[in-house]
Amino acid sequence: MYLLEVRDLTKHFGGIRAIEEVRFRAKEGSIMSIIGPNGAGKTTLFNCLTGITRPTKGAISFFDREITGLKPDSIVKLGMARTFQNIRLFREMTVIENVMVSQHCRTQSGFLSAIIRSSSFRDEEKAIKEKALEYLELVGLEAYSDTIAGSLPYGSQKRLEIARAIATEPRLILLDEPTAGMNPQETREMMGLIKKLQELGKTIILIEHDMKVVMGISENIVVLDHGVKIAEGTPSEIKCNPMVIEAYLGKEH
Ligand SMILES: Nc1ncnc2c1ncn2[C@@H]1O[C@H](COP(=O)(O)OP(=O)(O)OP(=O)(O)O)[C@@H](O)[C@H]1O
Ligand SMILES: [Mg+2]
Repeated sequence: MYLLEVRDLTKHFGGIRAIEEVRFRAKEGSIMSIIGPNGAGKTTLFNCLTGITRPTKGAISFFDREITGLKPDSIVKLGMARTFQNIRLFREMTVIENVMVSQHCRTQSGFLSAIIRSSSFRDEEKAIKEKALEYLELVGLEAYSDTIAGSLPYGSQKRLEIARAIATEPRLILLDEPTAGMNPQETREMMGLIKKLQELGKTIILIEHDMKVVMGISENIVVLDHGVKIAEGTPSEIKCNPMVIEAYLGKEH
């Protein structure tokens, strides 16, 4: 079964053709990578999927539901979460508070009961905290729950972003360069975490430049170049595709 289907997705910024009639499908429970040179349109694609950017043309369906043009918070509620190329955390808040804020889209008590601090709110807050700790355990940050998020090492901040994404209880998780800036050890751990998310039944699409990661964990790879999908296939198909090699190395090679 396909969880996500993208049809003829196009995004122009004035004269810039950031993505041009891109189509692909993502199987439920799979790990898919989106690769391509800088400026290929990868992040713009994620922005369209998550409702941050309105596509110029094309359609996106998620569980057979048309989501094109929906607002980001509606898309999160339907079960799609993401991380960003540049880390976005509440840097002054603690690690666990960062996760708890993310959970709010799945909780009952509204803003008003949070202010009044009703007993139902307090019960719910306790449950939210326990759940937040579970999410932190999943990404290996349970020992840092009371640490200020901005003081965590870079690799741990990336993992916290994933915990925040997971806290919205998504079926599909989009990761924009999860291993960028990581050392080899952190990269291996991140690959392990992505595999673990898959074992939990999540579908994952990642944008990634590290070919060891891409080839090591993806079932399917979509290659973008100048906004156009130039190839799609398994790691072994993509590795020796001449169009892909040319996109990365230039024609003269
Ligand atoms: N908000 C915007 N306004 C104008 N142009 C934009 C905007 N966002 C992206 N672009 C342009 O669209 C193209 C694709 O950018 P995008 O960030 O999607 O590429 P990318 O594949 O994610 O690159 P990278 O690997 O460097 O992250 C680029 O030419 C970029 O300058
Ligand atoms: Mg990008």
